[in-house]
Amino acid sequence: MTVNSERRWSAVDSYFAKTLIGSDAALEAALAANSAAGLPSIDVSAPQGKLIHLLARMMGAVKALEIGALGGYSTIWLARALPEDGRLITLEVNAKHAEVARLNVARAGLAGKVEIRTGAALATLPKIEAEGIGPFDFVFIDADKTNNPAYLEWALRLSRPGTAIVVDNVVRGGEVVDAASRHADVIGVRSMFEMMAGEKRLSATAIQTVGVKGWDGFALAIVNQA
Ligand SMILES: C[S@@+](CC[C@H](N)C(=O)[O-])C[C@H]1O[C@@H](n2cnc3c(N)ncnc32)[C@H](O)[C@@H]1O
Repeated sequence: MTVNSERRWSAVDSYFAKTLIGSDAALEAALAANSAAGLPSIDVSAPQGKLIHLLARMMGAVKALEIGALGGYSTIWLARALPEDGRLITLEVNAKHAEVARLNVARAGLAGKVEIRTGAALATLPKIEAEGIGPFDFVFIDADKTNNPAYLEWALRLSRPGTAIVVDNVVRGGEVVDAASRHADVIGVRSMFEMMAGEKRLSATAIQTVGVKGWDGFALAIVNQA
């Protein structure tokens, strides 16, 4: 992988974003607000955000769950895929991130559909279950990678046959193939893949991506009919 190829990936992403997405005031304002607030630029790219949006629309999702909101960039993409009476709950541990996300979501006109819950996801998820809010039609997992196996388990608990589960950052520049890696994120991603592989309730694959966010990828799974 050379600097030139990385530049090429970014150029192709820009081309797709310009050609297929175009300018979008709410999304651009969200990225500007994130940057002004000092949030890290680790949101999905525009083509990736639209992919999540399209997947949710393709399956007619009404109720969605996101784990890891950051400033709400992917939240906006996902919420826009839901119908007027749809509901998206997004979980964010960092109070500052959650506050920026709230403002971004409100500016995008989506406050009525989106609920941002502040706190560690593993503390919030049992409450969501206790409130009987599930099952969710679509789950997007994009928080701390060490907890990916636990998030996958929760996604299953809060699912129904047909629920789609998408997990971001599962390739990590190719490090995912390193069985000897001591990196906690890689270990988390690999354990999640092992769970997926051994879980009869799921049918899954993973796709590598290159682009403005580098070399990474998504895992995609669907909850099988019983
Ligand atoms: C990669 S960013 C999310 C990016 C966002 N999905 C997007 O594309 O716009 C990961 C987020 O997960 C949050 N996070 C990390 N650990 C968490 C936890 N235990 N519970 C909930 N959120 C967590 C981080 O604070 C960060 O904002």
